[in-house]
Amino acid sequence: MEKKPIFKPNKEFAKTARIKNMCEYHELQDEAIEDYEGFWGRFAKEKLSWKEPFTKVMDESNYPFVKWFEGGKLNVSEQCIDRHLDKRKNKAAIIFEGDRGDKQIITYLELYYNVNRFANLLKNEFGVKKGDRVVIYMPMIPEAAYAMLACARIGAIHSIVFGGFSAEALKDRIEDADAKVVITADGAYRKDKPYMLKPVVDAALAEGGPVEKVLVVERNNEDIRWVEGRDYSYNELIKMQEVTCKAEIMDSEDPLFLLYTSGSTGKPKGVQHNSAGYILWAQMTMEWVFDVKENDTFWCTADIGWITGHTYIVYGPLAMGATTVMFEGVPTYPDAGRPWKMVEEYKINQFYTAPTAIRVLHKMGEHEPAKYDLSSLKVLGTVGEPIDPPAWKWYYEEVGGSKCAIVDTYWQTETGGHIVSPLPGATPIKPGCATFPLPGIMGEILDPATGERVEVGETGYMCITKPWPSMIRGVWGDEERFVKSYFGDVQKDGKPVYFTGDGAVYDEDGYITITGRTDDVINVSGHRMGTAEIEAAIKKHSNVAEVAVVGKPHELKGEGIFAYIVLKDDKGVADEVEEAKIINNIIKKEIGNIAICDDMVFAPGLPKTRSGKIMRRILRAIAKGEPITQDISTLEDPGIVEKIETMVKSK
Ligand code: PRX
Repeated sequence: MEKKPIFKPNKEFAKTARIKNMCEYHELQDEAIEDYEGFWGRFAKEKLSWKEPFTKVMDESNYPFVKWFEGGKLNVSEQCIDRHLDKRKNKAAIIFEGDRGDKQIITYLELYYNVNRFANLLKNEFGVKKGDRVVIYMPMIPEAAYAMLACARIGAIHSIVFGGFSAEALKDRIEDADAKVVITADGAYRKDKPYMLKPVVDAALAEGGPVEKVLVVERNNEDIRWVEGRDYSYNELIKMQEVTCKAEIMDSEDPLFLLYTSGSTGKPKGVQHNSAGYILWAQMTMEWVFDVKENDTFWCTADIGWITGHTYIVYGPLAMGATTVMFEGVPTYPDAGRPWKMVEEYKINQFYTAPTAIRVLHKMGEHEPAKYDLSSLKVLGTVGEPIDPPAWKWYYEEVGGSKCAIVDTYWQTETGGHIVSPLPGATPIKPGCATFPLPGIMGEILDPATGERVEVGETGYMCITKPWPSMIRGVWGDEERFVKSYFGDVQKDGKPVYFTGDGAVYDEDGYITITGRTDDVINVSGHRMGTAEIEAAIKKHSNVAEVAVVGKPHELKGEGIFAYIVLKDDKGVADEVEEAKIINNIIKKEIGNIAICDDMVFAPGLPKTRSGKIMRRILRAIAKGEPITQDISTLEDPGIVEKIETMVKSK
């Protein structure tokens, strides 16, 4: 294995960090190993404000369905707002910067009023009750955060659908969750121009379904259709609401939200997170991994439609009483200096983004960071995909001035918060390496065949061998899928353990590097896409007989989408460019722009075993231009491999 350089933590920074060195890290991890429940019980008491204390830390009797902090009562919106009012009522909770440069600073007291009014609106005008599902299809505006916290306040379960998803995708998610309310906006602004969301909601609801009411935040004031008795203006209704709303008293294990994510098969699954365990880990990881201090300003550039936005724009920062930045626009608009201008202006201390954004900012504005004063930065974070060495180097040197730790945080929708990550004051970092499991997380790379820890340099499965508080509680409406998806592949000491779906490897110092998905999930610009979903969309084209989608390395996106398509009539395609456009339009309609294919090959057939299984490994190798190492002689039609290879090479 190639030896990676090591970067030690900044000594000055480490002096005041919450975890100051590796000894302190090991002490915490040892505490968790020796007394797992004691460890989590201690932090749950220290970090959360309970209305009633919990009586049991963890109940594994129905494993892998696990309960945390039973008996405990709390409300997540109070954790994020009310309990800070004594000390921080005039502190900025959210700093919002709009696409066009418009700004809002929302203090904790204002947040309290806004969320309470919103909660009253949902409860009193729409009749939303505890346990009801509310879909949020919103741009990156403060009302999106209010909507989340208002749901939490009244015990409704929110399900945010990323604003880039199509009407079809939105409809599927609304129906799967059986949501009775959708909260949306007319639209918002991108690159100084209005774009629309409400028409997408109209299309998603065109055939009826469970939704009774739609609440529309008027952001860009463009013309939209209003359906009488269904659609209501937030801007109008909110004015009439009382400024206080009693928070629903929730059990620790009451669901907080659903977030749909892609799996290797079938439709996206509704990942369920529950109240106490999720908010505890959101707060703890904010404190440990970003080391946010009282006067700091934290900016996570994700969209609230993804888990990163849930945990590190809204819940984590607010649970710890920090100041969080929310940005509506595009990081490269009006130029690739936009984020650095914002860092200078707001004196941002921790900046968290995805490698794909770093690559784009690097490419489009290599020297932009030098034009701004970035001295406020202390910690830089990355998430969503492995970070490549050139992007890492530029981020470290040009953005961080070679003095900020880069925390390469590895986690997933299902884990709720970080699971493997450096600690900025303690961990000597190696570029592209997520380093070690966080204290309390029993992360191990296991050999799926034996359940043993793999040797140094051997790729194994990234697993978590003990349940942890913020783990996924279920796949909405599908218990079997939950068990099969996460607890079906690896057993340790005879017990199924949580498998992330990722491969990983230890180096000679025990550092963990994530090597990527082992299933048919691909990672496009840090967004998780199931190849099965894209294939299902392509199959909607009446002339498509067969299709196989694989990932292919992409300079900016990390992975691009590569489709091999076999048409029903074998006359060949008269105009491949036109056909590809038609297919991409179908994908846009079924899923959204994020899933359109970068490459399409109209192949005469696909490599299959005699039992009809498509050999994706061969297709992946061809897409990457790599040699095929597998024996192809046993395929149904071995000649097809060469034909496809020739087609791909000549493209
Ligand atoms: O493959 C891993 C990759 O992103 C997947 C999780 O995607 P999602 O649930 O959408 O959540 C993304 C944001 C947390 C993982 O299974 N991934 C995430 N972080 C990293 C990563 N791969 C390498 N390094 C990371 N730091």
